[in-house]
Amino acid sequence: MVTNENINESHSGKICFYGAGSMAEAIVRGLIHKQVAEPTSISMLNRSNQERLTYLTNQYGVVTSNQEEQKNKLLDEASIIVLAMKPKDAKEAITAIAPHLSEKQLLVSVIAGLSIDTIQKLLGFEAPIARTMPNTSSSIGYGATGISFSDEVSEEQKQQVLTMFEAVGTVSVIPEEKMEILTGVSGSGPAYVYLMMEAMIAAGIEGGLSPEQARELTIQTVLGAAVMMRETGEERPSCVPILHHRTAQPSRHWISCARAISQRLSKPPSAERRSVPVRWGKP
Ligand SMILES: NC(=O)c1ccc[n+]([C@@H]2O[C@H](COP(=O)([O-])OP(=O)(O)OC[C@H]3O[C@@H](n4cnc5c(N)ncnc54)[C@H](OP(=O)(O)O)[C@@H]3O)[C@@H](O)[C@H]2O)c1
Repeated sequence: MVTNENINESHSGKICFYGAGSMAEAIVRGLIHKQVAEPTSISMLNRSNQERLTYLTNQYGVVTSNQEEQKNKLLDEASIIVLAMKPKDAKEAITAIAPHLSEKQLLVSVIAGLSIDTIQKLLGFEAPIARTMPNTSSSIGYGATGISFSDEVSEEQKQQVLTMFEAVGTVSVIPEEKMEILTGVSGSGPAYVYLMMEAMIAAGIEGGLSPEQARELTIQTVLGAAVMMRETGEERPSCVPILHHRTAQPSRHWISCARAISQRLSKPPSAERRSVPVRWGKP
């Protein structure tokens, strides 16, 4: 584990978040909570949303700005710049900041689907880049982040990036060509689990449990199963009956429950389900 000195002592020790949305906030919350960086060494910049910046300053004590001159100054001063805008805004944003960056500054991208090569082309030079894929659970410190580094990233910079993302969960360093598959597993993974949980809750309510009971039982069950898998090291702990297993004899009750849940899962997501936003506490 890298200590907090690593980020604060190197170069300027300042981290600038270019894009101040949900993912930027999740990482900043982790950095401050785990004392990996001082609030005053963190700046968060956006395009225009002043209400959002006021909230971030009040909540975390970080420096914020949406004013061109101050933004450029904060970018200049930072040793780490985190690109945290939506993919659709990336081209315009990266091209705009390119003249203010140097090859000594480390760029950390959380932008889904944007390759290291594309970022370097947009910048016009071969900057050290860490391409990352965090997930929504980073907002509560239980994230699973994949990271790929460009050849230009130094060992010290790699440690800094690991420290940043270990503050919001676990980290896997992977070659960039594996980033899409990692996105399928952990980037989008919470969505599959929520879908399954929704089906379990609905099946419980249909069977006569109260909504509160169905919800609490489902949460504790998924939590328990995850911890069980981690603690036993087994993908399917031996106490679990398996339908096609030769020796295990699943009960009739187990089979009917599994059937009810899989029937629900085979239905297309409802409009309501599709529109449920991830709640990150953003104003
Ligand atoms: N949310 C997730 O679960 C998740 C998971 C993995 C990866 N990601 C990636 O994280 C990135 C950010 O997602 P998010 O959910 O945090 O987005 P978000 O909440 O919509 O925030 C985007 C931020 O980018 C700012 N921005 C846009 N264009 C800008 C520009 N030209 N200059 C400066 N700031 C600009 C916006 O500022 P204004 O509000 O002022 O326009 C806003 O602060 C995305 O690329 C996404 O792929 C997200």
